[in-house]
Amino acid sequence: MNAAIRAAGMVALARDARVVGVRRGYRGLVEGDFVDLTPPVLDGIHRLGGTVLGSARCPEFHQRDVRDRAREAMAAAGVDKLLVIGGNGSLAGAQLLGDPDEGGHHTPAVVGVPASIDNDIGLTGMAIGVDTAINTIVDACDKIADTAGAHERTFLIEVMGRRCGYLAMTSAVAAGADLALFPESRHSADEIVEAVVERVLRVRQRPKRPKRVTVIVAEGVDIDISDLKERVDHELESRSGEAADLLETRVTVLGHVVRGGRPSSFDRLLAGRLATVGVGALLAGHTHKMASWMTAMPMPDEIAERSAMDPYCWIVDLAAVLEATEALLSGDSPLSQWRARIFAELDDVFAL
Ligand code: F6P
Repeated sequence: MNAAIRAAGMVALARDARVVGVRRGYRGLVEGDFVDLTPPVLDGIHRLGGTVLGSARCPEFHQRDVRDRAREAMAAAGVDKLLVIGGNGSLAGAQLLGDPDEGGHHTPAVVGVPASIDNDIGLTGMAIGVDTAINTIVDACDKIADTAGAHERTFLIEVMGRRCGYLAMTSAVAAGADLALFPESRHSADEIVEAVVERVLRVRQRPKRPKRVTVIVAEGVDIDISDLKERVDHELESRSGEAADLLETRVTVLGHVVRGGRPSSFDRLLAGRLATVGVGALLAGHTHKMASWMTAMPMPDEIAERSAMDPYCWIVDLAAVLEATEALLSGDSPLSQWRARIFAELDDVFAL
């Protein structure tokens, strides 16, 4: 996110705009907690993880009067355009904040930049933070594979991804895991246990191959990781011909480690390009839009236009983004269904 803040600030300053950063997300916006963004303030922040402006969940932003206070704070500070860098909740807040029916002549122009490690935002091929998170997970999996190989163990590695299993899917491929578990598969707890047990038995019987097994689990699947371990151990004890002490399963929960660390080069570039397109859209008079990166699905003219600044980017209606995001999170979108289908089709490849 810092790379996006820096790019947005520098591009806007170069276009003679005054730029303020909002501290602590919508909570800081309501309180008028602004800080002037100048080149010295922005210098070097693109290397940093997290966000120098801070962030905060602000559930009260759902209330109209709280949004009115935010609009008043912006008007008092002379701020009339807002670039919102964030995930589904931030973008939904921007949609309401920029609603002319609410704000009247105090209504700011709003443009979103997608940032969510889960990659759970609709109508953009990538969000900021995803690549760095995948690199962090794959680095951890490589380290775990060393000890899993040494002890011939099964590792269940939990990663972030409450309603979208993109991180589990992509890191499983990149790390060469033996199985990926994610909510889009809509598998029950029993089916998940059976999938892991089947994979352990199959991998450990492969001739002339290591007996280590790596399973990457999105936190949003239908069973808690410790229950999964317990049930897998129990099943293996009765169904494997190997002695119980050889069939050890261990759990690693990566948790918030996945959301920190120095941003990858790709993420810095993605953040810079999306922020540049977003600022360009604001300065061109757009509102209720999001800067979007190379989508998997075609983008109809009625909801999107290709950016004139960057052929890899689109400027997409924010309402369409929010609708597509809900479909992605519910598993009803063609993209999430394709992801579940392709992993089912390639399951035997993972096991080979
Ligand atoms: O940004 C999405 C996310 O990282 C999810 O993957 C994760 O479940 C959630 O945020 C964690 O939220 P919090 O940091 O509030 O515990």
